[in-house]
Amino acid sequence: MTQKLRLGMNIDHVATVRNARGSAYPDPVRAAKLAEEAGADGITAHLREDRRHITDADIEALVANLSVPLNFEMAATDEMQAIALRHKPHAVCIVPEKREERTTEGGLEVAREENRLAHFIAPLRDAGSRVSIFIAADRPQIEAAHRIGAAVVELHTGAYCDLHADGKFAERDDELKRLTEMAAFAHSLGLEVHAGHGLTYDTVQPIAALPEIAELNIGHFLIGEAIFRGIIPAIQEMRRLMDEARG
Ligand code: PXP
Repeated sequence: MTQKLRLGMNIDHVATVRNARGSAYPDPVRAAKLAEEAGADGITAHLREDRRHITDADIEALVANLSVPLNFEMAATDEMQAIALRHKPHAVCIVPEKREERTTEGGLEVAREENRLAHFIAPLRDAGSRVSIFIAADRPQIEAAHRIGAAVVELHTGAYCDLHADGKFAERDDELKRLTEMAAFAHSLGLEVHAGHGLTYDTVQPIAALPEIAELNIGHFLIGEAIFRGIIPAIQEMRRLMDEARG
């Protein structure tokens, strides 16, 4: 299995910078177009309930202007379902959302909400969107995502990245082992496997090397790195590291 590893660029934090001043710039759509130019295979944008970064108008503009697939990240609410059904994005990634969190802190508890989520994703799937569920690398969650009919699971790499940043390398390696085993398990069920959250140049390669993973979604680090080297070189370096690890 040597499929090309796709890079999904998350542009939420271009909107975070814009919204910090209530200005019209920097424009997330411009960032998305440059990401395409740099070799990103898709664009991810998370429309949060509180609209703290991406707005409804951003989603409309992305749908109208992107040449690569849009991965629309959203909570499992009626409001977001209606928006997704209106735009019919290539992919919908269902994430847990808490108002007070700074970012998506954990994976979705699919096993606990299996019935509701099965009904929630059915119309999205019927509308033609590939439904991805953002979960911890945890067997019961993967099994539940499979049972509700998701096409994709995205494994949360946040804990692995945090342990690396804290210098807790033995625990980081345990987490990597868990991600490795669960990527293989999800793939064996026929799920497409994605991964993301907190990935940097330092942490991406062991994840990119996992052969079952088809796509990485990366945002915050790349937007930060773009300040120093420009968005195109920042993405190209991530692409290079991913290809090197996969190669
Ligand atoms: N994947 C999902 C499902 C996410 O919620 C996020 C963060 O919005 C990412 C990937 C990207 O994480 P980061 O911005 O830390 O790279």
